[in-house]
Amino acid sequence: MKKELIDITPHKSIMCKISQTGYSIQEAISELIDNSIDARLENEKIVINLEIDDKHILISDTGKGMNKNVAKDSIRLGYSSKKEKLGEFGLGLKTATSFLGEEFVLKTKQKDSNEEYIIKYNEEEWLKSGDWFKFPFMIEEKNNDLHGTIVEVSKLKVDITNELLEKIKEELGRRFAPFILNNEIHLYFNGEECNVPKPDIIEDSKKDIYLKIGKSTVKGWWAYQLAGYNKSYYGFNTFRRGRLVTVFDKIGLTNNQQIKQIIGELEITGVNITHDKKGWVKTSEEYKEIEEKLREYFKEYEYKPKRLLTGYPASKGKVIGTIRQVNMFHSGNMEKEIKKVNKGDIIVTAMTRPQFLIAIRRAGGIITDLGGTLCHAAIVSREFGIPAVVGTNIATKVLQDGQKVIIDGGEGVIYEY
Ligand SMILES: Nc1ncnc2c1ncn2[C@@H]1O[C@H](COP(=O)(O)OP(=O)(O)O)[C@@H](O)[C@H]1O
Ligand SMILES: [Mg+2]
Repeated sequence: MKKELIDITPHKSIMCKISQTGYSIQEAISELIDNSIDARLENEKIVINLEIDDKHILISDTGKGMNKNVAKDSIRLGYSSKKEKLGEFGLGLKTATSFLGEEFVLKTKQKDSNEEYIIKYNEEEWLKSGDWFKFPFMIEEKNNDLHGTIVEVSKLKVDITNELLEKIKEELGRRFAPFILNNEIHLYFNGEECNVPKPDIIEDSKKDIYLKIGKSTVKGWWAYQLAGYNKSYYGFNTFRRGRLVTVFDKIGLTNNQQIKQIIGELEITGVNITHDKKGWVKTSEEYKEIEEKLREYFKEYEYKPKRLLTGYPASKGKVIGTIRQVNMFHSGNMEKEIKKVNKGDIIVTAMTRPQFLIAIRRAGGIITDLGGTLCHAAIVSREFGIPAVVGTNIATKVLQDGQKVIIDGGEGVIYEY
């Protein structure tokens, strides 16, 4: 047998191909933000600035910057010096930049250094004349104590629209929520600070959850939301080391939650993620165990509330509220009757009357015994934008004053809470 040693240096095109991971723009940008977060200096809040228009995507940070060797290694595929950080595969910088554009410039500087290191990558040039052994690396003298890293991507491969910019901003706030809420990072997007969107949950249903399964842990909270227009927007935002991995993850949940849907945030440890950081390694034992434990846990909480009553759907929307019986035939003081209705209450009455208007303004919804989709209650509730179910025949008899219910005005159904 003869033995030869052969050269298996990767083909140059691998540099461009690695970007084909099926990122969304937000996911690619998140890789760059991950790098900035990983470069935090101890006890110093990092400022991460994103500037995006239809020609450039620029991200700068006030992190520790790179020394010469790290800077040289940063462009190498698969090289990473990190442990227990957001990065670990040594790919993000390269995959994200080459997904976003044909060209990028990286500039980095450390505080005590008077040199700035510059790396320029251009896809076309690389494919034509680039060489793994002769990649250009620039050093520029800089006499200041600024520190941090800038990555500017140009010749964009992605389409940036105004609509998308809004979406990116919102999603980044959600993705990096734990870091923002813990005051560890300042994240700016085109000059505006990214905020964490507040989930629309039923406040008093919120519960903390902590599960320990072997070496893995699941920690976070969950709550109910009323099933909205898009029925699959439920499940968990899952995080790893404070960084979002999946949104609306149905781990441990069934696929058809109705009316009261479970949403929440879970920080998961002890399970690996895929190298594009888009998901958990679902085939791993650890993942399967967690999934099973969560399924057990949520079994009793996943249910469709019982229908109490149906009528004509008069004004759409879903709310939870407390039943307030208002007697339209009240012979005494009508004003007093109307004052019983507090903000957010659900008015239950045989039929609404013009005198009810003040109360309706405060109400969360209306249920009537009589009338159809053109009755007074129906018209007024649509005008005020509150849900209403009319013509139930028996609401005043079966619903108790003070009882909490869910009213679905679009379907014409009242559910138990
Ligand atoms: N913003 C940054 N600040 C400091 N160092 C960075 C930054 N971006 C990238 N680096 C360096 O470049 C290396 C390669 O980055 P990347 O390809 O994203 O891999 P990973 O993050 O998995 O290590 C990182 O390990 C880090 O040393
Ligand atoms: Mg990285």
